Amino acid sequence: MPRAAVAVVLPHPESVTVCRYLADAGFEAIPVESADELARLLGSRDDVHLAIIDGETDLDRALEMYPLLHDGGRDIATLMLVLPRTLGRMGAGSAGTARDEYFTRPYALESLRWRVEAMLIRVENWPADGLARTALASSAESPIIEEQTLIGGQGQAEASRTGGKIVIVFNPKGGVGKTTISISVGAMLQMRKGQRVLLVDCDTITGHIAQSLGLERPRTLADAWRESAILGAAGSGTVFAAKSVAEIATVHGSGVGVLVMAESPLHTEILDPKRVADAIGEARASYDYVILDMHPDYGPLNQALFNQADRILIPVTPDVPCIRAAVQFREIAEELNLRDRLSLVINRANSGVSASDVERVVSLPALARIRSAGMLFVRAADEGKSAVERFPTAKVVDDIDRLADRLIEVTHPNAGTRQGLLSRGRIGGSFKGLFDRIMAQVS
Ligand SMILES: Nc1ncnc2c1ncn2[C@@H]1O[C@H](COP(=O)(O)OP(=O)(O)O)[C@@H](O)[C@H]1O
Ligand SMILES: [Mg+2]
Repeated sequence: MPRAAVAVVLPHPESVTVCRYLADAGFEAIPVESADELARLLGSRDDVHLAIIDGETDLDRALEMYPLLHDGGRDIATLMLVLPRTLGRMGAGSAGTARDEYFTRPYALESLRWRVEAMLIRVENWPADGLARTALASSAESPIIEEQTLIGGQGQAEASRTGGKIVIVFNPKGGVGKTTISISVGAMLQMRKGQRVLLVDCDTITGHIAQSLGLERPRTLADAWRESAILGAAGSGTVFAAKSVAEIATVHGSGVGVLVMAESPLHTEILDPKRVADAIGEARASYDYVILDMHPDYGPLNQALFNQADRILIPVTPDVPCIRAAVQFREIAEELNLRDRLSLVINRANSGVSASDVERVVSLPALARIRSAGMLFVRAADEGKSAVERFPTAKVVDDIDRLADRLIEVTHPNAGTRQGLLSRGRIGGSFKGLFDRIMAQVS
């Protein structure tokens, strides 16, 4: 079944070529020749989510069509082909909505396709029924999250941000490499970069860091807190100090401290989100990096943790479902004022969509690319080791090495000499505003 309908208003034979290309990519591309035809199409169907219109060969006709797409309760995202000099004349006051974009000839079909893909992902995830709203609504219901200044921005959490860095590894999709990257980059920072690392399995449902590192039944945060509650209750007036996460963590052979939240997804009530986030925050005093491998959800625990993060790594495999999940998260992160902390890590980067297309579609810069390494990670896990220990000379471990270097650079932007990182990493899509959208051409 086609994924979305796109009206294509381009001259022959360009229209045929574009429609065929978009159809191959799974869209229903509908060629349209006149304003009347467009009006009939929009009158008869409500699943046309995007229109590509040509304002270069016939600007007047394009301007006639434009209101059809935006008036009378409609707001159909429009990708308009215009001359570069026309762009300048259109100005920021044009009737365009935030969803509209522009491009110029010449363009590559592949780029056009990805632009269409990106626009449709945005249209479909935005706004009213999008998860961003759901996330905010649930945070408003939760006094814990409100206290954590989601509404006011980053004030409190930012102010207390000294010492070690908290790095979250998150993508709302499973199976994309969150756990693999958490373990590998943790081991790399500890073993080769001289950093003290705490690796935290925050996934109380499907987490498998302990098993992957050959740790049998390590002491969990939930266990430790339950014990301290019991001892505290029995302690006849003695003030009982709960142990810090550094004291609870188990040390792996790589030197990395490993903390598991809970052994079972049941009975995790003791893991109050604010208390967990505070305890993780306090671990900054004992470690240089605290790496959190997250369960893919937007619940109160994850929101409280997001707020503590210095950097959020989003592993993305180069396929459409994963890219969509990353776009969704980027939009939610914007709502939560977290966008500046996001970086992609392109995992299995040597397959599928190119890394630069992934960056452009998601509108975030990638910190590093990790190649596909066959069974290497599985084999290391079978021996209870990280890939860094087990396969130190593998190419994929070089990729992890580079990722660790770049992570150090972005989390300590003033420390190193490689200052170009942040500016080099930025791409067009990360800038806000109409002007920038206009300038982000398909070429
Ligand atoms: N770059 C890679 N090369 C080879 N296998 C990988 C790579 N990244 C992840 N995997 C494998 O893919 C599977 C899912 O990865 P995982 O890290 O568990 O994903 P997530 O934590 O996002 O659910 C695991 O079996 C892992 O070994
Ligand atoms: Mg995982």
